[in-house]
Amino acid sequence: MDVIHSVAGLRERLQQVPNNVFVPTMGNLHAGHIQLINIAKPRAACTVVSIFVNRLQFGPREDFERYPRTLEADCEKLRAAGVDVVFAPDEKEIYPDPQTYVVEPSDLQHILDGAVRPGHFRGVSTVVLKLFNMVSPHSAIFGKKDYQQCLVLANMVRQLALPIEIILAETVRADDGLALSSRNAYLTETERREAPRLYEQLCLARDELTKGARDYQRIELDVMAALAHHGWKPDYISVRRQSDLQPPTNGERRLVVLAAARLGKTRLIDNIEANL
Ligand code: PAJ
Repeated sequence: MDVIHSVAGLRERLQQVPNNVFVPTMGNLHAGHIQLINIAKPRAACTVVSIFVNRLQFGPREDFERYPRTLEADCEKLRAAGVDVVFAPDEKEIYPDPQTYVVEPSDLQHILDGAVRPGHFRGVSTVVLKLFNMVSPHSAIFGKKDYQQCLVLANMVRQLALPIEIILAETVRADDGLALSSRNAYLTETERREAPRLYEQLCLARDELTKGARDYQRIELDVMAALAHHGWKPDYISVRRQSDLQPPTNGERRLVVLAAARLGKTRLIDNIEANL
């Protein structure tokens, strides 16, 4: 496994590689990331993983500074998973100039997580486009844990005609249902015991939808109230169409319930699909 820090070094290493599959990450790797790598590996001769905590996608009051950086432990996990190339650039490699050219997902960046985190999806799209240009993969794998991010990036690839196949992977969870996330490390012991409620509530909402409930707003408010009752501060709980994350019209059969809520100082997101 080669650990490469520069764009020039990466290009040189990949020059001889006929095709590669790419898993972008911000590091602090867990079983959710490793699943993406396991999906990637059989698809190409060379699996590339990037580790880069992208300042551009963090708001001024968000956790950029304290986001866990664990390169050595990450590399051990990646070696064990059979990754060929790790690209771990520093900020100057990705942003040698102030980034004045950006990718704006004009529709999706203003709803749900985009509304709560202004500029977040601009930062995500811009860095992923840059990473795509550096790695030139034929496919890239993303996790449905970040459902809106998946849609933003799939639309970017389609609308900008990038020759890259986007492959989506299911959310990996702890035994108690909590979606694995690097941010779970911020939770206190008490909060960690409370955290699975988010997924429990999403499951209840999904069950109501599959049983035929169509009063979406009531379902959203019930989840919101249950979480608030246990000390959560929900940003949104929303029943949406899978295809474009807009509110569903009646008769819509492919739905997703998306949630973001704060537990203490930690902001958790999760979602569940409901296929009726
Ligand atoms: P990061 O949060 O490190 O996640 C990297 C990839 O792992 C994303 O595709 C994410 O959806 C996926 N992932 C995280 N937790 C998961 C879980 N529990 N189950 C399945 N997949 C999971 O997402 C980012 O980094 C960044 O925004 C990035 C795309 C790298 C751009 O900076």
